[in-house]
Amino acid sequence: MKKSMKNINPSISYRLLYPSVPTLIVSSSKDTISAMPAVSVIALSNEPALLGISISPEHSTYKTIKRNGKLTISLLDSKDIPRLFALSKELGYRTKDKLRTSGFHKTITPKLKLIAPAEATAVFECRVVNDFETGDHRLLICNVVSVYASDDFEDYWKYEQYNPILYGGSSIGFVPYNKSKKERNM
Ligand SMILES: Cc1cc2nc3c(=O)[nH]c(=O)nc-3n(C[C@H](O)[C@H](O)[C@H](O)COP(=O)(O)O)c2cc1C
Repeated sequence: MKKSMKNINPSISYRLLYPSVPTLIVSSSKDTISAMPAVSVIALSNEPALLGISISPEHSTYKTIKRNGKLTISLLDSKDIPRLFALSKELGYRTKDKLRTSGFHKTITPKLKLIAPAEATAVFECRVVNDFETGDHRLLICNVVSVYASDDFEDYWKYEQYNPILYGGSSIGFVPYNKSKKERNM
């Protein structure tokens, strides 16, 4: 280890993992549409396709997901940073429809008829198949029932139209990925 390293409080060690691509999680129940940015989304299995989400049980969105049992996970383009920023400042327990108040438009997904932001570049339709206690968070295991992506995705992202958002922590916030072709080394 380098001598110059300093000791970090383990409870904030997750911040060492930034920058991360934030997703937008949406779930609805009765007249409530809950939505929140989430970076703790991980691919767990290819077949069946399973994603894990680490989510605080304090969040309104968690409570809505528990009522509905289904959710969408969306990827957004950097053009939507202002909307995502506005959404991250909204408090779920005060707002019945966080998508609308932050300027997103709604679309209904083809298979599970769930709400997703119309602006999304990719949308996963998910069903929760398990929910584990993991310290002060819950680990939701989500089956990817269907997933849709823009033309820029052909087995992998081409990054010709899609410019991902990176979240660098509260001091940096949301920034565009903006990787130009000549910078690529693979
Ligand atoms: C970029 C970003 C990523 C976040 N990722 C997560 C996450 O993965 N899990 C989590 O529980 N909270 C995460 N949060 C916090 C929630 O999004 C935030 O507390 C939100 O206000 C919860 O909304 P709700 O109470 O309306 O559900 C993140 C916040 C930001 C800004």
